[in-house]
Amino acid sequence: MSFLGIDLGTSSVKLLLLNTEGSVLKTVAKDYPVYYPKIGWAEQNPIDWWNAVREGIQEILTECQIVSNKVEAIGLSGQMHGLVLLDKDGHVLMPALLWCDQRTQEECDELSEKLGNKLSEYTGNKALTGFTAPKVLWIRKNRPEIYEQIEHVLLPKDYIRWKLTGDYATDPSDASGTLFFDVAHRCWSSEMLDVLGLSKEQLPTCYESYEITGSVTEQAARETGLHSGTIVVGGGGDQASGAVGTGVVTAGTVSVALGTSGVVFACQENYSVDIENRLHSFCHANGKWHVMGVMLSAASCLKWWVEEVCQFDDTGYAVLLQEAAKVSPGSEGLLFLPYLMGERTPYSDPNARGSFVGLTMSHGRGHMTRAILEGVGFGLRDSLEIIREQNIPIYEIRLSGGGAKSDLWRQILADILALPIHVVNSVEGPAFGAAILAAVGAGAFASVEDGCSMMIKTVEQTEPIAANIETYNSLYNIYHQLYGVLQESFEKLSGI
Ligand code: XUL
Repeated sequence: MSFLGIDLGTSSVKLLLLNTEGSVLKTVAKDYPVYYPKIGWAEQNPIDWWNAVREGIQEILTECQIVSNKVEAIGLSGQMHGLVLLDKDGHVLMPALLWCDQRTQEECDELSEKLGNKLSEYTGNKALTGFTAPKVLWIRKNRPEIYEQIEHVLLPKDYIRWKLTGDYATDPSDASGTLFFDVAHRCWSSEMLDVLGLSKEQLPTCYESYEITGSVTEQAARETGLHSGTIVVGGGGDQASGAVGTGVVTAGTVSVALGTSGVVFACQENYSVDIENRLHSFCHANGKWHVMGVMLSAASCLKWWVEEVCQFDDTGYAVLLQEAAKVSPGSEGLLFLPYLMGERTPYSDPNARGSFVGLTMSHGRGHMTRAILEGVGFGLRDSLEIIREQNIPIYEIRLSGGGAKSDLWRQILADILALPIHVVNSVEGPAFGAAILAAVGAGAFASVEDGCSMMIKTVEQTEPIAANIETYNSLYNIYHQLYGVLQESFEKLSGI
């Protein structure tokens, strides 16, 4: 028997087939485009997602030479916050507005002014341009003819569920990112639905991530090669599924995902919320909760430096990282602020800018590369410090994403965060987590925690070095003040 995990990412869908022993039989990825019709806008065509998923399923089944009735269950994961609108016949009304679409600052300001502290009381979060509720308000104001026809509001992965099973359903971890979900009580917020002019009938039914929401229809079976009747579980938003995929399902372990963006994710046994809403407070995919800080540029800062600035191809990473390794911790007093795309946590500021601070004649390329690795580490520490302030225990970091491959970056992070860094056997992230959720739904494991402890093991551990912790503590204090000092200049610069 095997379990299929499908992660509907922003640039591609990743599919993964897992067997009951926890071995990954095969992974497949299929790309699709993102459209940027105006500066700050980001859209995708849900039909492109479905075509990629369909082809991906056909390919994975063929390449594994697996009989379709051997796929016991399917778990869905996906990019969060996106807005998919369907009419009464289930037709897509317009391209989906994505998590990285920034057009809704005005709507966010309106929500914050109108609701004040109530927003956090109703949803556990504050209004951010990426979230779904301000997107609905934008449609109401700017596309009234579409707003009138809305029969179903879905999140990206739940559109795939609808194509597979014909059910309108979601899960609490993904629903948390809408800003119309009552995170504390794991249900839609009637107060927020009133504000948006939506009714519960327009929203998908919410199941826990490991619960069965439906099964593959005859038509979807014909289109994908799956067996009709194959069960589909709730699944999760990509961050919660990714955390399941690295075994971050109990308080004390924290996941750090060092991908394009940088995410610090801590599991909580009970719901609590930061009074200033600096972190996202969302439901986890195992019936618990989590807090999360999201940096908009993390490994992408290194990519920018290597490929755009230094003009190297893929081979340049090793060269530049070797140079950086020769520089001592702290880059001889050079700091880098990683706000190349603005920032979300801890400062939700689209105008924040990347900066090198402290350059002298004695600094060279190696110092600058190292300062970038350290600057991303300090940015992650900003989120970790807020988690610490909330008395959420942190014993161990589980690192994933492209950045986890660098020994140097792992050591820098261990030293800056002053915690052991673990890398686990499952590097496939959210699709792996989604397959575990499917296995739990099919009854292969008693709980998500059981599934994780059976399947996930540490394969690499990096301990912090005491002397470096001290150096980085002093530098972090300077780093932490720089945003406040430069904020006004960032704002003026963004007007140019
Ligand atoms: C989470 C977030 C991203 C998106 C895209 O809040 O914005 O993780 O889900 O991957």
